[in-house]
Amino acid sequence: MNEPVLQVQGLTKRFGGLVAVDNVDFTLQDGELHAIIGPNGAGKTTFFNVVSGFLSADSGSILFHGANVSGLTPHKISRLGIARTLQVKSVFDGLTVYDNVWIAAHSRQKFLHPLRSARSYKETAREVEDVLDEVGLTASSAELAGNLSYGDVALLEIAIALATKPKLLLLDEPVSGMSPSETERTVHKIRDLAKSLSIILVEHDMEVVFSVADTITVMNQGAILCQGPPDVVAADAGVQEAYLGSPADEVGHA
Ligand SMILES: Nc1ncnc2c1ncn2[C@@H]1O[C@H](COP(=O)(O)OP(=O)(O)OP(=O)(O)O)[C@@H](O)[C@H]1O
Ligand SMILES: [Mg+2]
Repeated sequence: MNEPVLQVQGLTKRFGGLVAVDNVDFTLQDGELHAIIGPNGAGKTTFFNVVSGFLSADSGSILFHGANVSGLTPHKISRLGIARTLQVKSVFDGLTVYDNVWIAAHSRQKFLHPLRSARSYKETAREVEDVLDEVGLTASSAELAGNLSYGDVALLEIAIALATKPKLLLLDEPVSGMSPSETERTVHKIRDLAKSLSIILVEHDMEVVFSVADTITVMNQGAILCQGPPDVVAADAGVQEAYLGSPADEVGHA
């Protein structure tokens, strides 16, 4: 079997007395789209924060393509190829769509070619155009980000993440707050991206999760409740009770 893209073992993150991520084991294979679900406060975003270096773990290991990344800065982890979007959208409203993506692409080019600025500018421009095309925002390229619809802001966030040329993309609730048609468009994009990238998707929209995920991890109070293919997770009695709503309860309310 190939080496996993991400292998997390025994990951624990505490906030004072609260164990937000509790001894989590998590493996992501190349090309896999792995969704993490769980109730509010389950520890999903904290897991992303630790994997991407925004928070340091209390214990456990994180291997990315076999290399230990735990304890590295977010900047270094991004250089190695892990990109994330934030649950609370964070684009620059006063800049154009193009410039928002340009900043992310340029910082990567500057790192790759510190002394070749003219060439790197051209390369950056091409990369920005490619990424905007990939997420379907080319027509809005000159628009101020602050004027975009909610769905387009989420796609812009994905574009900014893609501009760093990641191998692994962490998406934190990408369709939250979207209209049904925006959700459909974004799901389509996520499926497309999954053909060339490994993706971990945190999402509350069960229809989206069950339609795109190869594997699902269910978290509850920091710990993993269940992990497996969608049909196995959907049939798990513990998951039904803790998260999806117990069938027995529904009958009781009828
Ligand atoms: N920086 C922090 N300081 C203290 N407690 C925190 C911090 N970040 C998260 N928590 C707590 O850790 C727990 C897990 O939070 P987290 O944001 O990871 O949950 P989540 O699964 O992403 O929830 P949601 O679905 O609402 O986004 C919660 O109890 C939360 O209040
Ligand atoms: Mg969250």
